[in-house]
Amino acid sequence: MPRTGLRLKSPEQLIFESGADLEGNGLKRTIGPFQLVCFGIGAIVGTGIFVGLSDTVAEAGPAVIVSFILAALTCVFTAFSFAELGGAMPVSGSSYSYTYASLGERAAFLVGWCLLLEYGVSVSAVAIGWGQYLNELLEHTVGWRIPAALADAPGHGGVVNVPAVIVMLLAAVLLVRGVRESARATAAMAVIKVGILVLFCAIAFTAFRSGNLSPFAPEGIGGIGAGASLAFFSFIGFDAISTAGEEVKNPRRNLPLAILVTIGCVALLYCLVSVAALGAMPWEQVGGKPAALSLIVNHATGSTFGSTVIALGAVVAIASVVLAVMYGQTRILMSMSRDGLMPKVFERVSPRTSTPVANTWIVAVVFAVPAAVVPLDVVLDMTVIGTLAIMAVVNICVLALRRSHPGLQRRFRVPFHPVAPLLGVGFSLYLMYGLPVVTWVQFAVFVAVGALVYSCYGRRRSRLARAQTAPDDETRGAAR
Ligand code: ALA
Repeated sequence: MPRTGLRLKSPEQLIFESGADLEGNGLKRTIGPFQLVCFGIGAIVGTGIFVGLSDTVAEAGPAVIVSFILAALTCVFTAFSFAELGGAMPVSGSSYSYTYASLGERAAFLVGWCLLLEYGVSVSAVAIGWGQYLNELLEHTVGWRIPAALADAPGHGGVVNVPAVIVMLLAAVLLVRGVRESARATAAMAVIKVGILVLFCAIAFTAFRSGNLSPFAPEGIGGIGAGASLAFFSFIGFDAISTAGEEVKNPRRNLPLAILVTIGCVALLYCLVSVAALGAMPWEQVGGKPAALSLIVNHATGSTFGSTVIALGAVVAIASVVLAVMYGQTRILMSMSRDGLMPKVFERVSPRTSTPVANTWIVAVVFAVPAAVVPLDVVLDMTVIGTLAIMAVVNICVLALRRSHPGLQRRFRVPFHPVAPLLGVGFSLYLMYGLPVVTWVQFAVFVAVGALVYSCYGRRRSRLARAQTAPDDETRGAAR
């Protein structure tokens, strides 16, 4: 292998190392295609639609539907890219591994670093949203709320967000007990959350008034763009499917199939929920309101029964996102650790449970800290910007890999290449542009810290670097 500044891993090497075509490399191969789609829906539908919809409406008005379509298009183009890469390299590391094979180790490390935003910080955001709905449910059922001091971040009327911490620790307990069990739980929750959203649509459509959708775009194109950036949060998680690569049966076929089916179902569901919601209630009365779906159901039925059902559904739905996204984070850290870019503790698999126990607990405890003390809007915006940056890179990976490995076996090929991946890059950058300046500054600092960590730790401990230098050392030894 050439000793250049760009440390590249070949796709064949990635597959060989992960044992993706073999059985028994530590993780069990137990997940089928239906389970995988449920796993995807479990990872995607959560805080974004149940909590974030009202903020998106506040930005875009009834044109929130266009915002959702823009966000969905970004995901569709990028999902094609994930499907091509996941079908060619069915390994656990997702975008991190794909970047390693396409753009080299430094870019891969930075993608892995940004995945701490997409998965780790996202878990914190989702857990905070869960706490809000738990409080709604408690109020509707037992007439009591967790005191503000124990249910929100400092600066938002609280001291520490206890419910958010609790749901993260519970998710860790489930995950360390094994993927079979947690995937089954996620599948059951996915069915429940789709059921709740369909129920919401059925109730809201009974109060539909087309006049509520006019004026359609009161905040103009800028509002639609800002709304699309927020709406994107509701789609985050579709790539979690590809992080399960090592535990999927027949991954070359099932991974691309599951990604495409999942994103199509979720996009349709969100568009229906948006039309139903804003047809039932004027957008000014929905925008920025907490627990907006419950509010709309109350408005449509004139009783609190429906809102209690919706709150219960949200608590279940959001809990399943915590579970699925935390799972994804542990598998990415496992891949990075195998490459020597993260400490060894992240790759250890317990022989008893076949799961990475220490890894899971570290993730749960570390990301419980922002869940406990950082406000929701801050963690949400950071999750979105980090994820969009990764989406742009993944689309670039498809372009790069088609050039460098034209003969690689691909179970799925992005249609209209190179237009589709280029549109994926363009849409991702457009949505990033819609985020506040302060988020860009925070993101720049975060990436700079990542670059420093790579230079001081990852670059020196990289197993690929050692593998590249070893033959040279032997050559030098032989020459002496
Ligand atoms: N898409 C996930 C959610 O909305 C992150 O909760």
